[in-house]
Amino acid sequence: MGAKLFTPFTVKGVTLKNRIVMSPMCMYSCPNEDGMVENWHRTHYASRAVGQAGLIIIEATAVTPQGRISPNDLGIWNDDHIQGLKELAGLVKEHGSAIGIQLAHAGRKAVLEGEIIAPSALAFNEKSKTPKEMTKQEIDETIEAFRKAAERSKKAGLDVIELHGAHGYLINEFLSPLSNRRTDEYGGSAENRYRFLRQIIEAVNTVWDGPLFVRVSAHDYDEDGLTPEDYVQIAKWMKEQGVDLIDVSSGAVVPARINVYPGYQVKYSEMIREGAGIATGAVGLITSGIQAEEILQNERADLILIGREFLRDPYWPRTAAKELGVEIEPPKQYERGWK
Ligand SMILES: Cc1cc2nc3c(=O)[nH]c(=O)nc-3n(C[C@H](O)[C@H](O)[C@H](O)COP(=O)(O)O)c2cc1C
Repeated sequence: MGAKLFTPFTVKGVTLKNRIVMSPMCMYSCPNEDGMVENWHRTHYASRAVGQAGLIIIEATAVTPQGRISPNDLGIWNDDHIQGLKELAGLVKEHGSAIGIQLAHAGRKAVLEGEIIAPSALAFNEKSKTPKEMTKQEIDETIEAFRKAAERSKKAGLDVIELHGAHGYLINEFLSPLSNRRTDEYGGSAENRYRFLRQIIEAVNTVWDGPLFVRVSAHDYDEDGLTPEDYVQIAKWMKEQGVDLIDVSSGAVVPARINVYPGYQVKYSEMIREGAGIATGAVGLITSGIQAEEILQNERADLILIGREFLRDPYWPRTAAKELGVEIEPPKQYERGWK
């Protein structure tokens, strides 16, 4: 019997050779503070492609300079960013992996000089800066920045776009009532809090017809916050808008204590997958092939995202295959040392 982990997954004409996805992870490796792809990114992402990941999702990449988490973030706010991303896409695809990008705006979590923006003028915690409440014009401009970023992603030859709607960054800040206290059409009801993401998806859909994923934080871990049940409804709306997969993470919209253990977010993926009838990705303390296989076979997710374990082991797919007793093809150059 083969392992489901090593079966292909096709979405909107893009086929991933297996279900293993490198989770987006910020590298903060743009020393010139210009958001440009550097040698670090080339080495880091190409290594995981040599290691046989089915899909590699490039780290949170800022759609505006003000939307960076730090000055050293990768960027896609300018046409000058296209060339570096195109080279990166070429390097990764050369090894048979698909490549995606996580489009992001940090909102109130930006640690930058100058003004930062968010749905409401509420700081994340006592140490962080108080953001300025976004005007309608700033909302429109940000939606347009996501659209332009999607257009640039296409020009760079990227296979998948993932919108970063998790971890307390801007999109998440609009979704959660804990960070969104607006009284206009972008705040109040669940529909209103979803409006910003709805309009981003609409805008992206005008220029992008490839696979579209959205990462969410399915639990705010706060009694007044959002729960996985709320995200089932949000996922239904996303499905109606043509989103292909929900990448299910959790937390970080407000400071909260989270009880973490192996696979701690998998149950949220399962709930959203069943409740909304949409493909999901599971992430969070998934470190072994057996764990990944259990999640897929029990239909708790369609893709497995690996974060820190991929930092420790760039050839994690090989490690997982050995554990599951299946053989996967090595890069030709490594045939003599792969088994
Ligand atoms: C160094 C580092 C950077 C990260 N950057 C991002 C990011 O850019 N976008 C994101 O959605 N999650 C980010 N995360 C979260 C990971 O993608 C992943 O969801 C999390 O680490 C849990 O998975 P794991 O237990 O397999 O590491 C980051 C995590 C780490 C360790």
